[in-house]
Amino acid sequence: MTIRRLMAVLLLLFTSACGESSAPASRSTDPGWYRDAVLYEVWVRSYADSDGDGIGDLRGLRERLDYIASLGVGAIWLSPFYPTPYFDSGYDVADYVDVDPHYGTLADYDALVAAAHARGLRVFNDLVLNHTSSEHPWFVESRSSRDNPRRDWYVWADAPLYACPNADPKAFGTERWTLDAATGQLYYHQFYPQQPDLNYWNPVVRDTMLDQVRFWLDRGADGFRVDAIATLFEEAASTAPGGKEICTDHPLTHEYLKRLRGVLDGYPDKAMLAEAWDTRYFGNGSDEFHMSMNATITVGLQTGLSYNRPSVTLQAYLSALQKTPNGGQLAPWLSNHDFGRVMNLVNGDERRAAVAAVLLLTLPGTPIVYYGDEVGMTHGTGVVVDYRDRARTPMAWTADPGTGFTTGTPWLPPSPDPGGANVAAQDGIPGSLLTLYRQVIALRNRVGILGTGTLTVLTSPYPANTGLAGFVRSQGDRRVLVLVNAGEAAADVAWNLSGVVTRPASCPVANFTPPPLAPDTAAAWRPPLPAYGYVICEW
Ligand code: BGC
Repeated sequence: MTIRRLMAVLLLLFTSACGESSAPASRSTDPGWYRDAVLYEVWVRSYADSDGDGIGDLRGLRERLDYIASLGVGAIWLSPFYPTPYFDSGYDVADYVDVDPHYGTLADYDALVAAAHARGLRVFNDLVLNHTSSEHPWFVESRSSRDNPRRDWYVWADAPLYACPNADPKAFGTERWTLDAATGQLYYHQFYPQQPDLNYWNPVVRDTMLDQVRFWLDRGADGFRVDAIATLFEEAASTAPGGKEICTDHPLTHEYLKRLRGVLDGYPDKAMLAEAWDTRYFGNGSDEFHMSMNATITVGLQTGLSYNRPSVTLQAYLSALQKTPNGGQLAPWLSNHDFGRVMNLVNGDERRAAVAAVLLLTLPGTPIVYYGDEVGMTHGTGVVVDYRDRARTPMAWTADPGTGFTTGTPWLPPSPDPGGANVAAQDGIPGSLLTLYRQVIALRNRVGILGTGTLTVLTSPYPANTGLAGFVRSQGDRRVLVLVNAGEAAADVAWNLSGVVTRPASCPVANFTPPPLAPDTAAAWRPPLPAYGYVICEW
């Protein structure tokens, strides 16, 4: 056992002895734990501020772990909390092996992990491999002279080697090369100029970044959400096979990701989640990522919701599942720190947000819930860094001006909350969005088949252009049936479930009263689905 691990164990014993949590450690030791789990993304700067400086911190987050555990989620994904000048909200890392003083110390991280583990929760760090901050000492050295030993840690050239446009010029601008006046060369940055790309063609860089990973695994991190992996390697047209520049998904990226996976596999029960647009980063299903955020299914989910056509969502899932190798796990999400909040997507209509939650939490994969979505938080209007701050506002704990997030002045103005989009207003209230999230996640945890069970889409009785959708999830002899009506009109139609329902079912989650569902009623089951109705049954 390393000294760090020993210290983590001692800290765990200490925090339990102090009564920090009397909950027994219930983390399973199953390496496939993540397949049936729900992940919860937390924007650390906005979750809970323990010292009144208006900035969320790790201690504040630790004090809110009982709430997170009460949601039933299995792991927390922390936004980057490393030392940073905050030009890209922490995705500009100035030191990979420390905690930014705004967020606390390494001891606070250790205490957070120990307290999370004591509650059966796992902790994922955000791992930013592609680039560092321009204030990272590596880059400061690299730019200091053309012959500095770290010059080759970054990508320097006399003229641009490739164009490689960024997918979000609204945030990152259109210039990918910036002149360093002192040394008269340009450096490459896929994102902000304050985020120079590391040079992955340099083997020392490749090895060094894996050391940063080991540092956190040794400290008890349970895994990583890995940022911007598609752009680790670029190659100029002059050398690339086919004579066309390569900007994303270079074959060497996969080689490197396999090494990264090898590092995680050296520890028990670790997992990593790719920030990716498709199903490309699973390798053979067990040698690259465990999970992929897979924006294509999210687009399917969001399109289905925007147009009240959940059948579009189901088609997107079926096609993503077809392309996913055995062992690869989709990780759908509705909102995140880049793409905004689902509540805005559905025009602030809580009924539609509820349908969205039901779909997110019952379709295949490991769903990611973005903090505050569970109470229907909406976009804010303040901007500190860029337009994406709209979805990074302080967590809505209460309706107070500081939203229960801080006793000071919040670093970013909170989102408007005209009517109960906060935890205090919804906690324990039947029919609230928060209660629905808890109910569906509890059902997931109990039946244990929603992560990986087969998805069968029901194709009758509804006409193709209604807002209805139905599907069955199955594994072994367990079944879960989900029906939603994402439309404005009630849908009181008969569903033919004969042969599907093999024993009496219970329907613990619904926003209306469904009739009994059993083999003898299954051939023409007629649940009176209201507008934006949903029902989840199991047997
Ligand atoms: C993160 C963004 C970040 C970018 C550069 C992403 O994909 O999610 O928030 O700006 O990587 O690190």
